[in-house]
Amino acid sequence: MKAIVIGGSGQIGGWLLRHLADRGHDAVGTFATVAYPGLYPLKASDREAAVAWVRQERPQVVFYPAGFTWVDGCEHDPATARASNLDEPLNLARVTADLGGRFVYFSTDYVFRGTNGPDSEESPPDPPNVYGLAKLDAERAIARELGDRALIARTSWVYGPERQGKNFAYQVIRRLIAGEPVMVPSDQRSSPSYGPDVALAVIRLIEDGHSGLFHVAGPEVLSRPDFAKAIAEGFGLDPSPIASKPTAELGQGAPRPLQGGLLTPRLNAVLPGLMRPVSLSIDDFLRRLNLGEAWSDPRVAPGLG
Ligand SMILES: NC(=O)c1ccc[n+]([C@@H]2O[C@H](COP(=O)([O-])OP(=O)(O)OC[C@H]3O[C@@H](n4cnc5c(N)ncnc54)[C@H](OP(=O)(O)O)[C@@H]3O)[C@@H](O)[C@H]2O)c1
Repeated sequence: MKAIVIGGSGQIGGWLLRHLADRGHDAVGTFATVAYPGLYPLKASDREAAVAWVRQERPQVVFYPAGFTWVDGCEHDPATARASNLDEPLNLARVTADLGGRFVYFSTDYVFRGTNGPDSEESPPDPPNVYGLAKLDAERAIARELGDRALIARTSWVYGPERQGKNFAYQVIRRLIAGEPVMVPSDQRSSPSYGPDVALAVIRLIEDGHSGLFHVAGPEVLSRPDFAKAIAEGFGLDPSPIASKPTAELGQGAPRPLQGGLLTPRLNAVLPGLMRPVSLSIDDFLRRLNLGEAWSDPRVAPGLG
């Protein structure tokens, strides 16, 4: 297939591009502010230029793992949160459908209040923050306008090898190696989701002709402290500097779901066993680091790896 990845410089976008190429698809990705060789510069906020480029590329599928993903930042800047997570992807979803293509939007477990999670696709959403509300409104608008040309993939707590080296696993590993304390919320639970598996699952869904809403998340629900400890132990690091406090004492900018996480009955029915648990994912993370396939090594200071 001919595919475009808007946000190819990001965590999931990087894995989408790699898996698409490995699977013989013709894929091109974009970056907004962090340039990498081979990526096309595109800000979806520059709406006319973005539409013109998509029209020129004539993709069969547009993957959109992009937007304003800083949850606390969204709370302080709701206008940008809605423009970036709703209006801009909807703009490109429309042009994709107009070209006869399919559109994949990435959403989040933060569409749920998180009082009784983990939640399935059947659970009623009730976002606790600006980010989650913009994502839910985008899901609904894209599904309403594109019908079975749209695939909505909700994921959560994505980690693993990543070009920009920003995710939770990198933060934990770097801090522990630097001898710094690691403070995490004691009362937040969700489904850690391994980035390479998230990307592969979504590509497989598209290859197999699926549309609609799918939860694409790891098979376990863990607390943040347990997730951090599993990462530390997997990397052979002493987990004792990992400490925790209740969310209410951490002063995060946006409210968070506490009992969160995603059940994945639809994904399990069509791609059973694809999403790996944390222990196997960490093994894969280390294997890829050793093979030089992980872009950025969290065991090495940024800029030296
Ligand atoms: N990471 C998670 O734990 C998680 C959990 C649930 C849902 N999700 C969703 O999954 C998707 C991918 O997440 P991720 O962790 O891979 O995100 P990420 O690493 O933050 O990457 C975001 C990507 O979007 C690009 N981007 C930002 N603003 C843009 C704009 N206005 N126009 C075009 N591109 C823009 C960024 O480009 P530059 O970096 O070049 O600026 C980057 O490539 C997001 O939609 C997110 O909401 C993620």
